Amino acid sequence: MNIEWEKLGFEFRPTKSNIRYVYDDGKWDDGKLYTTYDITLSVASNCLHYGQAAFEGLKAFRCKDGKVRVFRPEENAKRLNSTCRHILMPEVPEALFLDAVKRVVRDNIDYVPPYGTGGSLYIRPVMIGTTPQIGISSSRRYELILLVVPVGPYYKGGIKPVNAMISDDMDRAAPHGTGHIKIAGNYAASLYPSKVAKEHGCQVALFLDPKTHEFIDEFGTSNFLAITKDGKYVTPKSASVLPSVTNKSLMQLAADLGMPVEQRRINKAELADFTEVGACGTAVVITPIGKIFYRDQVFDYGDTIGPVLKKLYEVMTGTQYGELPDRYGWLMEL
Ligand code: PLP
Ligand code: COI
Repeated sequence: MNIEWEKLGFEFRPTKSNIRYVYDDGKWDDGKLYTTYDITLSVASNCLHYGQAAFEGLKAFRCKDGKVRVFRPEENAKRLNSTCRHILMPEVPEALFLDAVKRVVRDNIDYVPPYGTGGSLYIRPVMIGTTPQIGISSSRRYELILLVVPVGPYYKGGIKPVNAMISDDMDRAAPHGTGHIKIAGNYAASLYPSKVAKEHGCQVALFLDPKTHEFIDEFGTSNFLAITKDGKYVTPKSASVLPSVTNKSLMQLAADLGMPVEQRRINKAELADFTEVGACGTAVVITPIGKIFYRDQVFDYGDTIGPVLKKLYEVMTGTQYGELPDRYGWLMEL
């Protein structure tokens, strides 16, 4: 193993193992570690045709005291189950999910980036329906696989601002659709609008609420948050936004810093009033947004991270790396 930890980006690379569980005949098996990254599937598998495919994302950190801890895995277990319920997949018992996380991280402990390098071990649970079928119905057999990848910053350049373009004519989710759960199809839907954003020099697409296009929803990879002139933390309340574990944690940390926190509908006209805008999520942590492009308008939030997002970033990462007290028991020790 020869990894330049400081140079890691957000790219797939194989590690020692991944862990796989099979659901069949109404129950989950005990799971097994695999060193191969290949799977064998029927060409008629449900996940390939009818989209029973869901995933999660969470991280393990090598903390200041040398121990490895996972950030809020119970939240991912709950969200995975909310996804499962929505697309008729069997739920994953929380104890099984937490045990899977522990087993796969322990087996890949050498791939958790050293403390001080800014890296972490990204854990990617993915669940697929594998029953061969040609008629549309839910699968009977499923696989839950957790793979792990050592990662650095999602966007090249660390926490430097990225630009966003509002997707004016394409949505990632439908009203009353699947935006609030983490299915693979949502990301397929965001590929084309994200490509259009990139063609306009923007690393991310920002989506509006799919019903009226009046309100801000979220980025393709992360939640939207903004700081108002009077120092409030605001973030969209919308049925088509993925409930982000990072955002939920940041709202708590912001409140602890004495900031008023508002989760509410955010009209796109408010973009002109914010002093700082950020994207937040497991992969992107907090990424400041430099400019937002919308039709012929440009909203400019500066070319360095603003003071409030910087403070939130420090408190968040300080908590994750065990530099600050874990006040709410967010870190799971292995
Ligand atoms: N929104 C979308 C569309 C995402 O893909 C993610 C990433 O998981 C998030 C928000 C952030 O969620 P979390 O903070 O739980 O990673
Ligand atoms: C995550 O932040 O874990 C995600 O799943 C986002 C993904 C687009 C990388």
